[in-house]
Amino acid sequence: MISKRIKEMIPSVTLAQSEKIAFLKKQGINVIGFNIGEPDFNTPENIIKKAEEAFHLGYTKYTPASGSMELREEVCKKFKKDYNLDYTVKDVIVSSGAKQSLTNVLMAIVNPGEEVIVPTPCWISYIEMIKLTGGIPVLVEMDEESGFDLNVEKIAAHINEKTKAVLINSPNNPTGAVYKKEDIEKLGNLAVKNNFYIISDEIYEKLVYDGKVNCCTAAISPEIKEKTITINGVSKSYAMTGWRIGFAVGPTEVIKAMSDYQGHTTTSPNSPAQYASIEALSNSEEFVQAMRKEFVKRRNYIVERLNAMDGISCFMPKGAFYVMPNIKYFYGKKYEDFIINNPMDMCDYLLEESKIAVVTGAAFLAPDNIRISYSNSMENIKEGMDRMEEALKKLK
Ligand SMILES: Cc1ncc(COP(=O)(O)O)c(C=O)c1O
Repeated sequence: MISKRIKEMIPSVTLAQSEKIAFLKKQGINVIGFNIGEPDFNTPENIIKKAEEAFHLGYTKYTPASGSMELREEVCKKFKKDYNLDYTVKDVIVSSGAKQSLTNVLMAIVNPGEEVIVPTPCWISYIEMIKLTGGIPVLVEMDEESGFDLNVEKIAAHINEKTKAVLINSPNNPTGAVYKKEDIEKLGNLAVKNNFYIISDEIYEKLVYDGKVNCCTAAISPEIKEKTITINGVSKSYAMTGWRIGFAVGPTEVIKAMSDYQGHTTTSPNSPAQYASIEALSNSEEFVQAMRKEFVKRRNYIVERLNAMDGISCFMPKGAFYVMPNIKYFYGKKYEDFIINNPMDMCDYLLEESKIAVVTGAAFLAPDNIRISYSNSMENIKEGMDRMEEALKKLK
């Protein structure tokens, strides 16, 4: 009795993994979680205080479908301040997480049979979201040798009259790649010339390292801005994943269509969380800087440790909080009952043998990699890397 569209959905590969982890934890086993997709920091206290204030001030009712006027104004200010971009509240929609903004935009622009190009490795939800609209995901593999940088030539080879959008994500989950301005610009110019949209998921925008900053696609030129829907939110930048506030900015008619869809499916996003998100956007710079500094330390340490392990190669990611070591060297190697033939085998082995949880690259269309999140304490990262090194040495 289940619908065809849901039956055709590929269930999350990580779900089975999460069950195994939960099972071990329940037995009291100390599993170190490198599978985590959210900052391990607490939401800053000033934001929490604002949420409390919201309840007492009566921000407990529906807001307009596309979000409260005050938060949308703050989002406009953010884009002006960060990228010198001019948007009005009509060009902004606030959603229940960036994920809902992504679903909204795909529902708003993609007709059945139209194609959406996605560079891979990618966040797997994109593919299922595109399929739910009746659209066709066109997956284009980026190169590990270049740190999974945006390869516009490869994408260009897939553009045709059915192309409705290209969905990019920089800083990237799972690769940590931060796309170069010149590459995004090339893609933007193709969008203008061939009349398709760019959906630019910039949810990790504040987590860019080594003195670099996020390149906001829409800020490259007014023509590219007209073709771009930017997805963002408070989840990753302000450690607010559970508050479920994301937003999108873009051409007024696209945002209006997203809002019409959201109005019927959700009514409006969480009201007190919207109130608190104004504080996040306007008064959290110190927190962001401290978090970024800590992530840099962890990234540098983890990449050094991984590259010192025999058989592991790991490029230095420039953003987000993930590393993607290649584990191909271990294919065919064994220890006791374990044989490694793919990243899932490696995940199972590391979980059973060293009690560390990492995610299979297959979950992100990275067939020879595992994803390690360094959203964990330095102490746990050190202990986890020691355990991993020991376990890998046993594989012969
Ligand atoms: C690339 C990417 N985009 C969007 C999201 C969703 O963000 P939110 O929690 O605000 O829905 C995630 C969350 O993991 C993500 O990794």
